Amino acid sequence: MIIIRKFEPADFPWVIDIERKVFNEHDPYFYMQFYETCSESFIVAEINGIIIGYIVGFLAEEGTGRIFSLAVHPAYQYRGVGSALLKEIIGIFSRAGVPAIILEVRAGNTRARRFYEKHGFHQTGVAEQYYNDGEDACLMRLKTRS
Ligand SMILES: CC(C)(COP(=O)(O)OP(=O)(O)OC[C@H]1O[C@@H](n2cnc3c(N)ncnc32)[C@H](O)[C@@H]1OP(=O)(O)O)[C@@H](O)C(=O)NCCC(=O)NCCS
Repeated sequence: MIIIRKFEPADFPWVIDIERKVFNEHDPYFYMQFYETCSESFIVAEINGIIIGYIVGFLAEEGTGRIFSLAVHPAYQYRGVGSALLKEIIGIFSRAGVPAIILEVRAGNTRARRFYEKHGFHQTGVAEQYYNDGEDACLMRLKTRS
C-alpha cells in the first residue's frame, strides 16, 4: 500500500537517490532548504518503508503555488504514484487559498508535459534557454478552485 505523507529528514537519502536517477541536476542542499522553509508542501510516497517518489513546492512571492520538483523512482512509475503526489500538493495549495499553481518543465520532456496536461495544467509560455544546458522550459499553470 502506498502512503502519501510529509517529508521527514530520514527520507533525505531516498529523495536524493531518486533525484540522481531521474534528474541528476539539483543540489541536494535545495532539498534540506525546502524542508526548513516549506515542509508543508514537501511530500513523499512510501511503500513498505521505502521512499519511491517525492514532490516539493512552495508559495511563490506572487501568491501562486509553485512546484519545484516531482519525481518517481523509475521502477515504480506508471502505477499512479506521480498522480497521487500531484493531487496531494494541489490539495495543499488549494487549501492555502492560492489562485493558481505554476511549474516549469523541460520542453523536451513530452511525457511530463502530457502528464501535467492530464491533471489540468496548460502551457502559458516558454522560457528560452531556461536550463543550464540551454534547453527551453515550458511554463505551465493550473487554476485552482479556491
Ligand atoms: C512524470 C512522472 C512524475 C509521472 O509519475 P508516474 O508515477 O509514472 O505517474 P502516474 O503513474 O500517475 O501516471 C503516468 C501514466 O501511468 C498511467 N497509470 C497510472 N496508474 C496506472 C496503473 N495502475 N496501471 C497502468 N497505468 C497507469 C497513467 O494513466 C499515466 O499515463 P500517461 O503516461 O499517458 O500520462 C514520472 O514519469 C517521473 O518521475 N519522470 C521523471 C521526472 C520528471 O519528468 N518529472 C516531471 C518534471 S518536474
